[in-house]
Amino acid sequence: MSSTTHTDSHAPSGAEVPTRRDFLTLLALSGAAVGVGAMAWPFIDSMEPAADTLAAGEPIDVDVSKLAPGQQIVVVWRGKPIFIVHRTPEALKTLQSPAVIRVLSDPDSKVLQQPEYADNWHRSINPVYAVMVGICTHLGCVPTFYPNMSATDPAPNWPGGYLCPCHGSKYDLAGRVYSGVPAPYNLPVPPYHMTSDTIVRIGENPAGNAFDLNSVVQI
Ligand code: FES
Repeated sequence: MSSTTHTDSHAPSGAEVPTRRDFLTLLALSGAAVGVGAMAWPFIDSMEPAADTLAAGEPIDVDVSKLAPGQQIVVVWRGKPIFIVHRTPEALKTLQSPAVIRVLSDPDSKVLQQPEYADNWHRSINPVYAVMVGICTHLGCVPTFYPNMSATDPAPNWPGGYLCPCHGSKYDLAGRVYSGVPAPYNLPVPPYHMTSDTIVRIGENPAGNAFDLNSVVQI
């Protein structure tokens, strides 16, 4: 199946937190950049030159070789923001922390929000790279990336992850939603696989799998 590699990243340019409507505007701008929260992340322009490919929902290849530990990039696939995070060893340790697991709503990913091959503690194929649909399962905002907490801690007693700007839903760096927040489900994981150590192909399952993103409980 054909695919398109996207390596055209853009420097962040502001501090606004995008909602879904804002996100569509960003797509229209084709090349806009977004900076959020404690750490800015590059917004990869995947509208050019492959708009036709994307409209057809074909797979896209993302080169993560320059994504440093602790960084996130955001690409667009089928009109949806896809978060790709290079998780640090500390972040992976946090995902397995009993103190975190006990305050998550669905720590074992029992609700169908991910393909079978991402139904594990890190909700991914390679634990180092998280790949998730960046749309809050409450009302559809784009959650803000907080890879670790610091003096700018927006939520006390929280080790970081994603914080949704509208009603405060929190997720960890595997997209697992916290208990007691408005969002009911974990962030969906799209069909994807890794064609090499550093190329993520979004929109195509590993051989032998047939996961369809439309089968998740909620996007
Ligand atoms: S859309 Fe995320 S908390 Fe409301």
